[in-house]
Amino acid sequence: MQTLEQLIKNYFGIYIRPDKAVTVEERIRPLLAKHNCINAHELFLKVDSDTTHGIINDIANAVTTNFTYFNREEPHFDFLLKNVYPPLVRELRQKNSLDLRIWCAACSSGEEAYSLAMTIRDYLDMDYSNWRSGVLATDLSTTALEEAIAGIYPSDRMIYLKKDAIKKYFSPINDYTYKIKASLAKEVTFRKFNLKTKTYPFKQRFHIIFCRNVMIYFDLEMINHVVENIYKNLETNGYLFISNTETLGRKNSLFEYIAPGIYRKK
Ligand SMILES: C[S@@+](CC[C@H](N)C(=O)[O-])C[C@H]1O[C@@H](n2cnc3c(N)ncnc32)[C@H](O)[C@@H]1O
Repeated sequence: MQTLEQLIKNYFGIYIRPDKAVTVEERIRPLLAKHNCINAHELFLKVDSDTTHGIINDIANAVTTNFTYFNREEPHFDFLLKNVYPPLVRELRQKNSLDLRIWCAACSSGEEAYSLAMTIRDYLDMDYSNWRSGVLATDLSTTALEEAIAGIYPSDRMIYLKKDAIKKYFSPINDYTYKIKASLAKEVTFRKFNLKTKTYPFKQRFHIIFCRNVMIYFDLEMINHVVENIYKNLETNGYLFISNTETLGRKNSLFEYIAPGIYRKK
């Protein structure tokens, strides 16, 4: 019989440190009553036979940490505007291929994906409508994705946004709550996707991939798996952004280091 920690690692690739096991068990406890189970053992036995995947989905929602905010690690967004978009947009225009593809993996409640959509809209400006550009934003947690799709945020997650950006892309609900405008929301597609998936199913490669503040929850084997799959799904010379505190594990040599948290596919 697998432990809670093994189950979480097998399904999501998330490594639970021994000192965090109690906290995770506490997060799972409310699910016992919901799924009519007396103890965790019974709940785990039900996971495999649960054809609705409701139990494993609830476990994912309970164990993931969804902390995020707009323009987190701001230098990455400045780097996009100053160093990535100008040559990339020029190159795509020359090829007459007005399709700039960005994937925000582990987007949580959407702040990072909307921050990305703002940069590309700001950069392309009047020309934006001629482009097929957009952001694919994925996460494991369906509760985080529901929040992302609703697009309603407390102002304390917006402190790194400039006043102009708030005016342009949000409608105030009250003094402390804002809603993403529909014109920006339509540029981001949210989908559930587990980075543990064996082979990633994307039809086209991306020019830019953000996969930040999620690999800290993975062990080396899972980091290697994710980085290898990202590599396969990134255009040559495409950019990968991770958090400044993360590393690419053993797949480091596939990428050129550019700046803290910024790598380029060789
Ligand atoms: C701390 S948030 C990071 C959000 C955002 N990328 C940022 O940097 O602010 C980590 C996110 O990773 C997601 N996550 C954890 N394991 C995952 C997996 N196996 N596949 C996809 N997403 C996962 C969690 O649901 C959570 O929303």
